[in-house]
Amino acid sequence: MTNPGTMTTPTILEATAKVEQKVIELRHHLHRHPELSFQEEQTAALVQRELALLPLSDLTPGVYGTGVTALLQGNGSDPRTILLRADMDALPIQEDTGLPFSSEVPGVMHACGHDGHTAILLGAAMVLSELRAHLPGSVKLVFQPAEETEGGAEGMIREGVLENPHVDAAVGLHLWGSVPRGVVEYRSGPLMAAPDVFSIRVIGKGGHAALPHQCIDPVPMAAAIIQQFQTLIARRVDPLESVVLSVCRLEAGTAFNVIPDEVLLEGTVRTLNQEVREAIPGMIEDVLRQVTGIHGGSYHLDYSFRYPPLVNDPAITDLVRKAAEDVLGADRVRKAKQPNMGGEDFAYFARAVPSSFFYLGIAPSEEDLVRHHHPTFRIDDTVLKDGIAVLCRSVFDFFASPLAE
Ligand code: NI
Repeated sequence: MTNPGTMTTPTILEATAKVEQKVIELRHHLHRHPELSFQEEQTAALVQRELALLPLSDLTPGVYGTGVTALLQGNGSDPRTILLRADMDALPIQEDTGLPFSSEVPGVMHACGHDGHTAILLGAAMVLSELRAHLPGSVKLVFQPAEETEGGAEGMIREGVLENPHVDAAVGLHLWGSVPRGVVEYRSGPLMAAPDVFSIRVIGKGGHAALPHQCIDPVPMAAAIIQQFQTLIARRVDPLESVVLSVCRLEAGTAFNVIPDEVLLEGTVRTLNQEVREAIPGMIEDVLRQVTGIHGGSYHLDYSFRYPPLVNDPAITDLVRKAAEDVLGADRVRKAKQPNMGGEDFAYFARAVPSSFFYLGIAPSEEDLVRHHHPTFRIDDTVLKDGIAVLCRSVFDFFASPLAE
């Protein structure tokens, strides 16, 4: 058991129960008014308004665009600071849930639960503020823009969110559609993948469909490249490493009887291991060089590294696990069987300081999953309080722990 210090779990649960209804209302408001990445202005304004009601210092809006940060200072007996993070952005999806608080913005929807994350972090800020006399160190609250697109986390770190005061650990959560409602899944080590992106132009020489010998047809080149990509993953990468290479966009030609000049291939590569990640572009280039060489064509490759793999720190993850067991009971806490190949920009925090990112389940049952990034995505409001309590318990346990400074 974790040493609970001076803060008991019943006290945390009691303080959480007091704010639960307000947090649910805030979540519904956010859900009605979703905003796309880097456009989270009303969302940030609401966050700022709510934080301004609390005894926080350094309330700072406009961090890397629409990000908001604030600091809750403890009673000063512990010099450490722990960071809690929520993401605020929605997706370009037309909602189809029929909920009374459905999105009022056509074509935009909170379809990944970031409205829930924002509401949970506001709730945690309320609870920790209420209990601050018992809080030995400081808590930095980070509401970030643009998790879905460019990685607002990285920009906020560049703007200094991990300093003044220096951050010693970070914790974040994601409401998760493949975990049963109210269950926490944790995992030490790699949890989510680096979602890198490529765009390839396969360059040939177009002409009449009936005279291929006078052309360099990029279509069979592209077909061979797509097949070789899968062989490459199967034969050149250690089978115990996880890699996904998906070609998701293919664009060629304008007519049935015209060989095009070029084919465009776009897709994504997901990896969990940084070394493997860095080796993939070279392997892709080998395929492109060889295949286009055989056909007498050429290529242009744009490969961009996006979020790093999300790797959880063992000590902080253990702390979060114990906190979740304390708050929810051991039967509602389990280890994630394996990492998944989705990307998540909390990875930038986890790369910079010892961190843990965990899933909080929203699925009605083990079989009845909720699909993220889908018009029918919905979360169950009863889990919001669970998220708040686990975050707050983790904060108190962090200051009760002898973790290295
Ligand atoms: Ni998400």
